[in-house]
Amino acid sequence: MKSFITTNQVILMLLCLLVWCSGEAENDAAPMEKGEQAVLYSAIQGFVGNWWNGSDLYPDPCGWTPIQGVSCDIFDGLWYVTDLSIGPIHDNSLDCAPNAEFRPQLFKLKHLRSLSFFSCFMSPFKYPITIPSKKWEKLAGNLEKLEFRSNPGLVGQVPSSFGGLTKLQSLVLLENGLSGELPRNLVELSNLKRLVLAGNRFNGRIPDSFGGLSQLLILDLSRNSLSGSLPSSFGSLSSLLKLDLSNNLLEGKLPVEFGYLKNLTLLDLRNNKFSGGLINSLQEMGSLEEMAMSNNPIGGDLQAIEWHNLENLAILDLSNIGLTGTIPVSLAKLRNLRFLGLCDNNLTGNLSPKLETLPSVSALYLNGNNLTGELQFSERFYRKMGRRFGAWNNPNLCFPVGLISTSHVPYGVKPCQQKVTLLEPHSDSKLYNGKLNQSSHLMVSLGFSSYTIDGFWWVTLQIIVTFLLLGSFQSYLFGNIA
Ligand SMILES: *[C@@H]1O[C@H](CO)[C@@H](O)[C@H](O)[C@H]1NC(C)=O
Ligand SMILES: *[C@@H]1O[C@H](CO)[C@@H](O)[C@H](O)[C@H]1NC(C)=O
Ligand SMILES: *[C@@H]1O[C@H](CO)[C@@H](O)[C@H](O)[C@H]1NC(C)=O
Ligand SMILES: *[C@@H]1O[C@H](CO)[C@@H](O)[C@H](O)[C@H]1NC(C)=O
Ligand SMILES: *[C@@H]1O[C@H](CO)[C@@H](O)[C@H](O)[C@H]1NC(C)=O
Repeated sequence: MKSFITTNQVILMLLCLLVWCSGEAENDAAPMEKGEQAVLYSAIQGFVGNWWNGSDLYPDPCGWTPIQGVSCDIFDGLWYVTDLSIGPIHDNSLDCAPNAEFRPQLFKLKHLRSLSFFSCFMSPFKYPITIPSKKWEKLAGNLEKLEFRSNPGLVGQVPSSFGGLTKLQSLVLLENGLSGELPRNLVELSNLKRLVLAGNRFNGRIPDSFGGLSQLLILDLSRNSLSGSLPSSFGSLSSLLKLDLSNNLLEGKLPVEFGYLKNLTLLDLRNNKFSGGLINSLQEMGSLEEMAMSNNPIGGDLQAIEWHNLENLAILDLSNIGLTGTIPVSLAKLRNLRFLGLCDNNLTGNLSPKLETLPSVSALYLNGNNLTGELQFSERFYRKMGRRFGAWNNPNLCFPVGLISTSHVPYGVKPCQQKVTLLEPHSDSKLYNGKLNQSSHLMVSLGFSSYTIDGFWWVTLQIIVTFLLLGSFQSYLFGNIA
């Protein structure tokens, strides 16, 4: 072993002479602090199992024999571990044992800046494990990033001692089996920029104190069982860029203080129990790019908001939130809008053809409302959108026949009844059904209560066509041609 290292050192020195300076060589030659090395082996062994013999496999973990997931740095001429990632992130990462455990040695890695566990604690029934409640203060001096991702076997509460990790900038507890209430003292993490607690079984209210996390850029509490109303202190989170509270049991009115979140780009409140209408102060969130509120009994109407203030909006999902009233033309001013979901509400009135002028729109769902009247969009629009223009389940909505070719009619919308239109012989054959061109050059646009022609309607159609051809409408029709 000794001669191996020596040979390598010689090569390195040659490289240094050839290429670059000697500063780095000094670093590479520096030893790892002995206690630190033993502690690292033991801590890892706790996670991956006793078969793993670090001193055999990785005699120089910060140097010649790096361990995947371990990074080091030099302090006072000795190597210490600064990053530790456990779990199958890379092909050759260390996998955890089924009965992975936290050993006390972990907390002796006092230079750790980043500690993460990915798919490590996997069996909630056979080997459930809780996050150790003590000793975190030993890492408080340096730890900036702490992550537990996809560990279903990690159960129990978040230890309140996390509140002492005051250097933390990122705390991610994503998709584990954690439960209980959100610890109030997380607010002591005053440098926190990212707090992700999504995909656990947290319950209870969101503590008022969360408003004190004034540096926060990302707050994701989605997919838990959080309940109660939002604290008005949310208005203090003025740096916030992304707020995801979707898939919880949150209720009550949206806080007026949302208006203070001027830098927010994502607001996701889907699948909760919010009520009280779309409040006016939402229009103050001028940076908003995504607003998703679907599946909440919010109620109210779309007139409450001056939509043109939200000029960055690209995604607006207000499906199934109990909206009433009409769809304001001002929505057509959202030049960046790509997705507009207003389906399954109680919206009424006509649809402005101006919505077609939205330059970026690629999906527009208005199905399941009570919109009325004639759709005024161009054939080009229907062709571009296809099924991504959803207008079905609006019983009183129809499209004007004759202006649009059959293959591009809006899906699930019936043709309008009232008008009788004549078409050029060459264009009519595409409409409805090729059978029509055998009986007449006249294409008659008639109302159907369903958008397919079944036998009954075909018979009716023939009767009416015959009637028209023979009857008293004849002069009217030829009058129209002229
Ligand atoms: C690793 O192996 C060495 C001998 O190869 C042995 O002395 C040492 O006790 C082992 N360590 C562990 C933790 O099993
Ligand atoms: C919002 O963003 C701007 C530009 O990125 C930044 O200058 C400002 O400080 C931010 N506001 C807050 C309250 O963080
Ligand atoms: C929509 O309006 C109808 C009739 O006014 C009512 O029965 C229904 O409950 C309303 N639906 C919603 C989601 O508000
Ligand atoms: C739809 O609106 C019409 C009036 O425009 C009304 O008569 C009808 O009851 C409404 N239907 C529902 C389900 O709300
Ligand atoms: C209708 O006209 C088209 C050409 O316009 C023709 O291809 C088609 O066979 C005709 N249909 C019938 C049933 O005659």
